Amino acid sequence: MTHPFLRKDLQALSPYSSARSLYESSNNLCYLDANEYKLNIYSSYPEPQPPELKKALCQLYGVNEQNLLITRGIDEGIDCFLRTFGEPKKDAIVVFEPTYDLYRLSAQIQQLEVINIPLENNFQIDMDIFESSFRDHVKCVFVCSPNNPTGNSIKQETIHSLLNFCKDKCLVVVDEAYIEFSEYPSFTDFLEKYPHLVVMRTLSKAHGLAGARCGSVIAEESILNSLKITLAPYPIATPATKAIIEHLNHFNKSHFLSQKLKVHRALKNCPLVSRVYESDANFYLFESTQPDFLFNTLLENGVLIRDRQKKKMNCLRVSIGNEAQNNIFIKTLRSIT
Ligand SMILES: Cc1ncc(COP(=O)(O)O)c(C=O)c1O
Repeated sequence: MTHPFLRKDLQALSPYSSARSLYESSNNLCYLDANEYKLNIYSSYPEPQPPELKKALCQLYGVNEQNLLITRGIDEGIDCFLRTFGEPKKDAIVVFEPTYDLYRLSAQIQQLEVINIPLENNFQIDMDIFESSFRDHVKCVFVCSPNNPTGNSIKQETIHSLLNFCKDKCLVVVDEAYIEFSEYPSFTDFLEKYPHLVVMRTLSKAHGLAGARCGSVIAEESILNSLKITLAPYPIATPATKAIIEHLNHFNKSHFLSQKLKVHRALKNCPLVSRVYESDANFYLFESTQPDFLFNTLLENGVLIRDRQKKKMNCLRVSIGNEAQNNIFIKTLRSIT
């Protein structure tokens, strides 16, 4: 069953049916049904949702298999979600700025209106402004928590209020790309309470696996059934699946916190840094008295950080890297001032 918010013009469609979904793999058949050229283990099309990977991700996130859809990163999840539910030139989305740019870009590509609501000075959501800005044609609200580029988590009670307000009105995506760095639990525990909630998770950040492109859309089954109509038939390549499973079998939480503390201290001690924002993520947003000078001098010395001045005045953003990278950043920062 698909979701009632599925685009009207997609409602009569079914997901692409692959050769393997008609006849499952077994060793007893000579497969000549998928126009493959059988040379080695990479010659066959992968499973649309590789079962071993799906099981491992469900275990990692503590959710049921019918509630998780694997995508090539959250980025594909966002794009697929908007193509599935957003009716071009008719629907709108809400974003809270400054936030991750891809919500806006993907919505514009789908010809959806983007309603920008500024975050408050403390980077929290003002529910009064949100409720008064809400319009009937809003199909989805994007909440990024912890938020990029500000680094803070949105208060749990605010997300609950927002979910209660949006019930029967629209879907709510909570992008939890950085949740593993936060002290707050994931909203995946609230799927039953809020059937219009869509949580997005990724292995790109805390798992250090951005190159493998593995995201999860976690939601009620009819939402995922709808997404399957627009998702590419085989999103996850076989080598990626192998690498991810290998990684998940051996993953150990690293010394991340001590590294983060070290970078924080270096920023606080830097005379060109006037303010460091609190972060529940693997990066710091900070204000500088001379942002262009600091950015360019770091770059001239071989360290690239992110210029976020267009998003927030005088602001730069630095990722917490591995120990060697953090040491280079700190040493270079000290040498500048
Ligand atoms: C908030 C947020 N969501 C999603 C992504 C992309 O995640 P993925 O690598 O899973 O596509 C990013 C990347 O920076 C991000 O900051």
